Amino acid sequence: MMAAQDTTSELLTNALFLLARHPSYWDQLRAEFVDIPEDRLSAEKLMGSSLIANILHETLRLHPIFPLLGRLALRDTVLPVGGGPNHGRPIFVQKGSMVVLAYYALHRNRSVFGDDIDEFRPERWNSIKPEQWEFMGSGGGNRARLGQKKATVEAAFVLARLAQSIGTLESRDSQDWKGELKLTCKSANGCKVAMY
Ligand SMILES: *[C@@H]1O[C@H](CO)[C@@H](O)[C@H](O)[C@H]1NC(C)=O
Repeated sequence: MMAAQDTTSELLTNALFLLARHPSYWDQLRAEFVDIPEDRLSAEKLMGSSLIANILHETLRLHPIFPLLGRLALRDTVLPVGGGPNHGRPIFVQKGSMVVLAYYALHRNRSVFGDDIDEFRPERWNSIKPEQWEFMGSGGGNRARLGQKKATVEAAFVLARLAQSIGTLESRDSQDWKGELKLTCKSANGCKVAMY
């Protein structure tokens, strides 16, 4: 179990970084939320928006907040795949070895996400259905992110409220996204945008 701080704000920073460079999604967000009074922005309403869900999933796919996870083998272990010439055979993991899972790479598997894996294209989530271990934006299994629903509603609320009041979101950063890896991976250059 790990606790990290600022994960929701890191997710929002990345989402705004990407949205500023893809204004058509900002326009879609505005169209969906601009006329909804704040007291009707319920958790159910926010969780029910496939546009917001797609944007958050796509942001976590491209820039997972936890991009790496390490596991130390406590005993000699055989994993079902990963060995042999095509990595499809079992693989031996000796006691004491560290196995590192790279979600950054996992999230760029073309047979799961399509050929344009480096593009920010939230609508891909309308036609793909990654299985539990193919997308690890919020972890998985017993150790999935405990606060996932809370974080999603918070992030969705901030996006919806910003979209209601900000007509135009423009990038003020010519650099590509760069990560800064500690326990989590956040945008090293923050998110420089103009809002008006
Ligand atoms: C990509 O995903 C497919 C489906 O889950 C899997 O069979 C394949 O091994 C993955 N490719 C790599 C390089 O991990």
